[in-house]
Amino acid sequence: MTTSEVPIRRRTPGLSWYDLVLEDQHPVPEDLRSPRIYPPSSVEIPNERYTSREWHVLEREHLWRKVWQMACREEHLPEVGSYVLYDIAGDSYIVVRTRDGIRCYVNACLHRGRALKDFDGRCSEFRCPFHGFTWRLDGTLRYTPAPYEFPTVDSDRAAWNLPEAKVGVWGGFVFINPDSTAEPLEDFLGEMPQQFARWDFEHRYVQAHVEKLLRCNWKVAQEAFDEGLHVGGTHPQSAPYVGDANGAVDVYGNVARQISPSGTPIEDLPEDPGEVEILRRMLDVREGEDLPIPFSQRTTARDSMADAARERWRSVLGDDIDRASDGELVDHWNYAVFPNFHPWGAFNRIVYRFRPNGDLHDECIFEVMFLTPYRGEQPPTAAVRRLGFDDRWSEATELQTLGLVMEQDSFNMERVQQGLQTTRRPCITTSTFQESMIRWRHDLLTEWVEKRAGRSS
Ligand code: FES
Ligand SMILES: [Fe+2]
Repeated sequence: MTTSEVPIRRRTPGLSWYDLVLEDQHPVPEDLRSPRIYPPSSVEIPNERYTSREWHVLEREHLWRKVWQMACREEHLPEVGSYVLYDIAGDSYIVVRTRDGIRCYVNACLHRGRALKDFDGRCSEFRCPFHGFTWRLDGTLRYTPAPYEFPTVDSDRAAWNLPEAKVGVWGGFVFINPDSTAEPLEDFLGEMPQQFARWDFEHRYVQAHVEKLLRCNWKVAQEAFDEGLHVGGTHPQSAPYVGDANGAVDVYGNVARQISPSGTPIEDLPEDPGEVEILRRMLDVREGEDLPIPFSQRTTARDSMADAARERWRSVLGDDIDRASDGELVDHWNYAVFPNFHPWGAFNRIVYRFRPNGDLHDECIFEVMFLTPYRGEQPPTAAVRRLGFDDRWSEATELQTLGLVMEQDSFNMERVQQGLQTTRRPCITTSTFQESMIRWRHDLLTEWVEKRAGRSS
């Protein structure tokens, strides 16, 4: 990647998120609002990272076979023997609950290679459908047909254990890492769990789960959610109430976050909409209709939305919600765990994951989950709704108003891929500050993929 030599001007002349939250009735606590700015810089990222098969093959070897990655939620493995398949860049893994905790095996028979499992499910052992080689849930070999035909099995049974990937759990998410020498998940996540402790991700359940196929590289899809600068262009309905150039971006090692403020317009809106109009737009209230929540002239749209959100959550979380600041109730806390996982913080409920579709570099699977807080008995886990390339997000009514936003974001993605494949410019350019999350991830990709492959761009 190439870094710009042009001098960098100061960030937005408007009120940035870091200062905006200080003016709230219930300000965001200091440890959650302290800036951890990635040194501002405008960089050029080579298009080949999105368009080349060769780069994808390097990612498969140096990234996907080495890095911690979110495979599923613990609730997807409710009982001993429950398992899910986790497919990534042509590889397939079985994540299974055993009597000794959650384990992960490479989904391939050690006889002649058939995938051991084709679908998620529950089993008491792994029996290959081809010739019947069978492994126990702990990965040890239990049965071979015609054992005298396989003299090497008995001479070294340990060599016939199913190869394993490492497993780690955080916040109810199950992570795997195919690299047996990898650092523990806790070290990889660094200080992130501390920030999320306030939001109690263990007591959340998958209320909605939608995955969509897209004709673009997984990073093209992901980067559509890495910044707020596209609000005016892509989501014009939100321009009066979601900030763009005044968002926060902070980096904590392998984790970064981008926060778009709510109840404040984008910078280039021709005129100030005023607080009542901002509130109307946020609530999608038409001309002549009454506001469904109280608004006093002494407060702001942001205050009113925060108060209303607090009361809404009170029915689930009780008076614990009084500890939440206004920013946690109304802003867009988009956290990203390198390389492909976005568990939004605070009370947003949103989780994204981006993966290559099979082993293809120019197609991806984009998943959206609603991870909703609960108290008492855990509500049932939503089944995955699968949308094909040409299905519309609006079919997933469980995503409510987010479906329209996803439609708008997805509209750009395949066009970006096409543009990157046809452009004569060999690179894309990032903005200095607001697109820091994109730059952060590509800097890590340089470390993980490019340097380990002994390559430079
Ligand atoms: S390939 Fe699995 S038993 Fe033969
Ligand atoms: Fe968007």
